[in-house]
Amino acid sequence: MDEYRRHYLIPWSVQEREDPVLVVSRAEGVYFYDREGRRYLDFLSQLFHCHLGHGHPRVVRALQEQAAKLACLSPIFLTQERAELSRRLAAKLPGDLNRVFYVNSGSEADDIAFTLARLITKRPKIFAKYRSYHGTTYSTLGVAGDPRRIAVEPGPPGCVRFYDPYCYRCDFDKTYPDCNLFCADALERQLQMENPATVAAIVVEPFTGAAGGFPVPDGYLRRLREICDRYGILLIADEVITGFGRTGAWFGVDHEGVVPDLMVLAKGLTAGYAPLGAVALREPLAREWESRMLPLGSTFAPHPLACAAALACLQEYEERRLVEHARALGEILAQQLRDLARRHRCVGDVRSKGLLACLELVSDPVRKTPLVPPNTDSLLPLQIRRQAWQEGIHVFVRNHLILLAPPLIIEPAHIEEAMSKLDRVLAWVDEQLPLG
Ligand SMILES: Cc1ncc(COP(=O)(O)O)c(C=O)c1O
Repeated sequence: MDEYRRHYLIPWSVQEREDPVLVVSRAEGVYFYDREGRRYLDFLSQLFHCHLGHGHPRVVRALQEQAAKLACLSPIFLTQERAELSRRLAAKLPGDLNRVFYVNSGSEADDIAFTLARLITKRPKIFAKYRSYHGTTYSTLGVAGDPRRIAVEPGPPGCVRFYDPYCYRCDFDKTYPDCNLFCADALERQLQMENPATVAAIVVEPFTGAAGGFPVPDGYLRRLREICDRYGILLIADEVITGFGRTGAWFGVDHEGVVPDLMVLAKGLTAGYAPLGAVALREPLAREWESRMLPLGSTFAPHPLACAAALACLQEYEERRLVEHARALGEILAQQLRDLARRHRCVGDVRSKGLLACLELVSDPVRKTPLVPPNTDSLLPLQIRRQAWQEGIHVFVRNHLILLAPPLIIEPAHIEEAMSKLDRVLAWVDEQLPLG
């Protein structure tokens, strides 16, 4: 075994299957380099979070200055940076999502959002999509439908899962938009069977990333908002991946003008330069804690370094108009992915919004047979990722889905480069298919 990995447990992995493990030695802009000096185009922003690419001078400077000024501070104290970050977020967040509670990661933020929803509504249940991922803690892994939950089942009490919109292979055998969002009606019927007065919240990612590549169709979030309002259920938008420009809007819910009751943030908040997660609350919900004890908090959060990084990131997103840039580049990416898909038998569907995209791989394009069915053990995803690394591109491969989420700073030339590398990866996948 390589000395580098001897004492390190690799997350989300069967350890002995992880070969090679990349040892990364440096990174710059949209590229990173391994210890042999090989260069990789980072078309995943590491793990959907490095929005500004690597070694960003403004963020690095902010971190250095903050480290020299004040690095260790109790969460009960305010600083100019803590106040300023909260004020700037409130200004960017939709509607009256005005108050922010900080933690250290997306998982913690979802966990806290579920707890807040239960405390506020005094109801026990959380509804989550089958195709979702909300984090790695017991209550988040156990709530989401992602197959990784199986390992912790039976999971925490009070979680109910529902079939989400998956228009390429609809669970209800309908076709969008003629279906008139039948899946939302089905969810409402399920709520009635569960007794909506026992449901604290519905949690939804506007475009599921880490559990696959599943955008919600237009109109779905508005329908969820209506359903939640009808039954006094809180709507939690998990924007850990979709937040901060990823989909070509500041937040995924902005595409439909929906204001959730709670919004969960992480990743792009600091673009990965320091760990930070947050839950934003609508003003009336936050007022609950004016006269009642808020029984939650965490030693490190919001860390002064993370606040400094987040402030620098927000400035950069705004000054360089990176959200608009992501939208424009997203259109180029979508077009080029459609062209790529036409050349490869293994690509069944292409879905994208802004700079978040998914290629769905099939072994039979007519029957739409998934290349790797859910909840099966296959080496193919690792082999595809290995092929991608050999080509010098870093992407996310989960079961039969390849996800792309490049830094928001990419230029058209990077998309060209990615397409020619992916072309070769997909040619390899085509070769693995039975002859058709
Ligand atoms: C939608 C969503 N929620 C929550 C999380 C968990 O965030 P973290 O890995 O920072 O704990 C993730 C991670 O990918 C995610 O995609």
